[in-house]
Amino acid sequence: MKIPFVTQAQLETITATYPTPFHLYDEKGIREKARALNQAFSWNSGFKEFFAVKATPTPAILKILQEEGCGVDCASEVELMMAHKVGFEGPAIMFSSNDTPAQEFQYARALGATINLDAYEHVAFLKAVTTIPETISCRYNPGGVFALGTDIMDNPQDSKFGMTKAQLIQAFKDLKALGVKKFGIHSFLASNTVTNAYYPALARELFELAVEVVQATEVELDFINLSGGIGVNYHPDQTPNDIAKIGQGVREAYEAVLTPNGLDQVKIFTELGRFMLAPHGHLITKVLHHKQTYRDYIGVDASAVNLLRPAMYDAYHHISISGKEKAAATEVYDVVGALCENNDKFAKQRQLPEIQVGDTLIIHDTGAHGFSMGYQYNAKLRSAEILLQEDGTTRLIRRAETPEDYFATIEGFDF
Ligand SMILES: Cc1ncc(COP(=O)(O)O)c(C=O)c1O
Repeated sequence: MKIPFVTQAQLETITATYPTPFHLYDEKGIREKARALNQAFSWNSGFKEFFAVKATPTPAILKILQEEGCGVDCASEVELMMAHKVGFEGPAIMFSSNDTPAQEFQYARALGATINLDAYEHVAFLKAVTTIPETISCRYNPGGVFALGTDIMDNPQDSKFGMTKAQLIQAFKDLKALGVKKFGIHSFLASNTVTNAYYPALARELFELAVEVVQATEVELDFINLSGGIGVNYHPDQTPNDIAKIGQGVREAYEAVLTPNGLDQVKIFTELGRFMLAPHGHLITKVLHHKQTYRDYIGVDASAVNLLRPAMYDAYHHISISGKEKAAATEVYDVVGALCENNDKFAKQRQLPEIQVGDTLIIHDTGAHGFSMGYQYNAKLRSAEILLQEDGTTRLIRRAETPEDYFATIEGFDF
């Protein structure tokens, strides 16, 4: 069973002030998560989490993570601008982009962000469009199939990201000749892994690569970036990842591979998004209609524009009914939004307690890749974001869009 981080009484107060739908975030949970991560990797003195801004590009959330010692991972110019506005500086910003326009490299250089090159061809491109930094990282793609035990997690050979081992070695040599002093290796091989084995397996592979690359290039290896990919238990039957065990698993690989090869100063970096934020966000929505045809439909005031994952990936997001969290699931419903798309469904044929018009639904695990994947189909507007603070009070951290926002980009043009 999944228990919401907000009580019925709290939600009644919040929804009396702010109209639904909105995304609600739990400050206490976010801080505790960041502390648990930092604790799990405290054996590595250079450890740093660079929170993936794409997961939750909301300044108040980034500020909380900054206060907990995190940096940020940006993938675009506007994400870089947001990081800068929030007060992240230079090496606290990782720029892990791909297919990168010239002006984004230039802006990343102006901010002093650490650039993580996605392609061997970007060495020459970077040199042509801006200056070469002192520290740089390259993204590795081993090709083949990334298997964990018997579970195939992903297929690097089909992924557009990263460079081959031969390209990475050549990139390091070229960059060293261009004056780079310190190097990093980055890789992201599987998304939303719900197993404590992913990071340790990835780390071992990257540590072995690192030994080979340092031998071949004689560069100073500064860090290894394990990127994102640690998942969350969206489904209540799944066992959540244990970050202490994951940190320990990476430590064992580090001590088995890097330490004996004289690489015991290498910093470990992460770029987690989902693991840090997903459980600490709820999408709050009210029931507008109950419709019965060949199925029983519950129509809510949120739609896929507020949370795309179910429509896009058929992803499971658990749903609680405020005040009926522990009631028996006696009914079977499709929970739907108002878009003119039949995939606009938060749940299909889901067993739930009986729902009445006016009930408040809590859609779980929406704190990462939730609001940020929003869009405006059917001219539906983006919702507000609200922070449930540690003292139990709430704070509006992003207002809802208005029709004026929607029309702003066509203002002044002839119809
Ligand atoms: C380069 C990079 N880093 C980090 C992340 C965050 O991944 P996750 O939210 O799964 O941890 C992503 C996600 O797409 C990514 O592309």
